[in-house]
Amino acid sequence: MNFKDIDTAYLDESTQALVIIDQTKLPASLELMTLTDEHAIYDAIKRLCVRGAPAIGVSAAIGLYVCAYRFEEREKDAFLARLDSCAAYLDSSRPTAVNLHWALERMKVAAHACEGDRENIIARLHDEAIAIRNEDVAMCRAIGEHGLTLVKDGDGILTHCNAGRLATIRYGTALSPIHLGIERGMRFKVFSDETRPLLQGARLSAYELSQAGADVTVICDNMASQVMKNGWVQAIFVGADRIAANGDVCNKIGTSGVAILAKYYGVPFYALAPSSTIDLACKRGSDIPIEQRSPDEVTEMWYENRMAPEGVGVYNPAFDVTEASNVTAIVTERGVIYPPFEVNLKKLFG
Ligand code: MRU
Repeated sequence: MNFKDIDTAYLDESTQALVIIDQTKLPASLELMTLTDEHAIYDAIKRLCVRGAPAIGVSAAIGLYVCAYRFEEREKDAFLARLDSCAAYLDSSRPTAVNLHWALERMKVAAHACEGDRENIIARLHDEAIAIRNEDVAMCRAIGEHGLTLVKDGDGILTHCNAGRLATIRYGTALSPIHLGIERGMRFKVFSDETRPLLQGARLSAYELSQAGADVTVICDNMASQVMKNGWVQAIFVGADRIAANGDVCNKIGTSGVAILAKYYGVPFYALAPSSTIDLACKRGSDIPIEQRSPDEVTEMWYENRMAPEGVGVYNPAFDVTEASNVTAIVTERGVIYPPFEVNLKKLFG
């Protein structure tokens, strides 16, 4: 199995199953998970087997379809009621990335608008899920094109978490310009924050970038300041889980610290995300629900022996909010958006 040939998540048409790369196993082994049951799909999203805002949106859309394909309800109203409750359940797997809710809403709207019978609705759900998947690929490629205009061959780029192809279906958001640049013979020096506590940077960004032949250096999160001070970084590229109407960017915990450092050292800070991540209904970052995760991710995971004393308090928010004032620009499939974000986001997406 070759990583380069596999999408992060896809619909296996022969079995009508959702197939994902199990990201909890990377980089040690490349394994696929085949899912057809709503509890297994919920669990795969919750445990971060599939993760990254766009990838969980697409997986939930395909996942809802594969569940609906198997619903036993024959009568249309009962079928739609079952669909709505399954969508609500999948939507509750993770609260922060708006793409999950966005994709499931799109699927529900498509189903309810379908005038035919149960079989017609199932066919409609199939097509909507595939459309969401195809749009994700196209949006990520366009983000890469716009992002490439912000850097030049040889630049140092620092990234946090994984907003690469493993967080989308192909290309990624923050890493899309790097993947596209490599296709065109450009070379960047990429610094990948390890991203405590779940190590998406060290495990996943480093994996996909090295597989693509990129020059990638893993650093501990507390080394970002030093590499910026050394003058090794010309741009910061990060993804987003939700962008509020005022331009506040919610992304993996630690991102806001990177943005503050970038401002201090005069390095431009870019958030790269598709329109499905922009939530104009959310006025400001403080309105975004932040997922709190289990303490053992901080104290036990990755360690042979528990590394903190039993009984101590642990704070483990999965995301933070970078204030719009620390964001140089937001890069979407429609172009590069500069401040004032409130005005310019509304102009493009309102
Ligand atoms: O908890 P994760 O791994 O799902 O968090 C992912 C991130 O924070 C990404 O940066 C974000 O979802 C953007 S992915 C294109």
